[in-house]
Amino acid sequence: MPITGLDLAEEIRALKKERRAVVLAHNYQVKEIQEIADFVGDSLGLSYQAAKTDADVIAFCGVHFMGETAKILNPGKRVVLPDLDAGCSLSESCPADELAAHLEARRDKNYYVVAYINCSAGVKALSDVICTSGNAVRIVEAVPKDRHILFVPDQNLGAWVTEQTGRQMDLWKGNCYVHVEFTRNAIERVKFEWPDAVVVAHPECTYAVRILADEVCSTEKMISYCRDSSADTFIIVTESGMLHRLRREIPGKTFIPGPTDHCACADCRFMKMNTLEKLHSALLHLEPEIVIPEAVRARAELPIRRMLELSA
Ligand code: 13P
Ligand code: SF4
Repeated sequence: MPITGLDLAEEIRALKKERRAVVLAHNYQVKEIQEIADFVGDSLGLSYQAAKTDADVIAFCGVHFMGETAKILNPGKRVVLPDLDAGCSLSESCPADELAAHLEARRDKNYYVVAYINCSAGVKALSDVICTSGNAVRIVEAVPKDRHILFVPDQNLGAWVTEQTGRQMDLWKGNCYVHVEFTRNAIERVKFEWPDAVVVAHPECTYAVRILADEVCSTEKMISYCRDSSADTFIIVTESGMLHRLRREIPGKTFIPGPTDHCACADCRFMKMNTLEKLHSALLHLEPEIVIPEAVRARAELPIRRMLELSA
């Protein structure tokens, strides 16, 4: 007999105890996973949680690079991801061998590589410091002034950081396939329908969309911004899972999904690969597991630790 939603949630809770596991979930996860997780947050908050946990097992409900980050910080722990195929278009846009060749071909630049956390362990291992959307401005401001910066892999986040800091950087030409779907026309249309609404957008959006926003910030900052704002209606221009967290934690306010030209359904297909059933199976079988060659892991840990120190 198939396990029902309720039983499944109960079984996951029991398995969590039995395995001494912690469930970390990104803000874009489906509602059922957010509700059972021990911590729900953005990439920065999840990195801090991964760095401080004393659990034996980390069940990471997010995408592959997030599970890898947890494993890099916890080589002695088992890190499982409900679906190992949950990738990220940004991470895919910057393969480690291409970055290595790019750096080799431009040795004269002596680049300081700032890597957005949405990249593979191999790319992290080639970087000087990691950043997330929550701390990118601070991290870039801390780079020695005499160094050329290469920012990988998100050109939109990189351009936004330059707008904020005035610091010129060479940008890798990657983007998030979900956030570039939001267009100026679609956001203007929804603003017209909700003239009093405040527009909150993720920095992975294009410039044409960012300039229409009242606030551009990480997914975690969206929570505090909307809670503290005197407005009560918000157009949220990011992945759809964010709406669940906002509505759950700020029940008195109205959150409207930012539309694209086709729909108001900005789902990240990678984030949505994780389901309650797959989380249950991951805790039961302790796989699929994240495995990283030790040399890569050890080198990738340095820029992550640097980020955690700089944004503490
Ligand atoms: P945050 O760190 O702001 O949650 O962003 C992660 C992400 O993948 C955005 O697409
Ligand atoms: Fe990657 Fe975009 Fe999905 Fe975030 S929303 S995980 S950047 S593909």
